[in-house]
Amino acid sequence: MKKFSEEKLKEVERLKARYPERQAPLLMILHMACDEFGYLDDEAYSYISELSGVPKSKVYSVATFYSMYNQKPYGRYHLQLCKNVSCMLAGADDIVKYICDKLNISPGETTPDNRFTLSLVECLGSCGKAPAMIINKEYYENLDIEKVDKILAGLK
Ligand code: FES
Repeated sequence: MKKFSEEKLKEVERLKARYPERQAPLLMILHMACDEFGYLDDEAYSYISELSGVPKSKVYSVATFYSMYNQKPYGRYHLQLCKNVSCMLAGADDIVKYICDKLNISPGETTPDNRFTLSLVECLGSCGKAPAMIINKEYYENLDIEKVDKILAGLK
């Protein structure tokens, strides 16, 4: 059964005491759950609901609204490349093709060694520095093929 570490449980209690509105710390608790469990599934939604006092249906609807909460197991490095207008106009299509060819996967897939998962996501809020991508929690902006190549080579 999924359960937070003692340290995370203390943090949840601290957040609940700080925010009288039950739903207020939900986004933070969802982040903690992704860190702890790797991704969110039905069992995780039940656990978070019980822990936060927020109805499970609300936990699910919030978690699935945002692309930052993993809904399935991903590779060690989760590449989330923006597919919105500013990034596409700045060359994101070429970067998607390059990453797919280099890793031999399509968007939504994970490499057989479980190192990389590629997802295409909505705007990352870096339109002024497009094309943009997040790998795990780190932002990479003003991407071009050369930069992507260096980034991928640097991931151990
Ligand atoms: S359109 Fe890509 S970051 Fe906004």
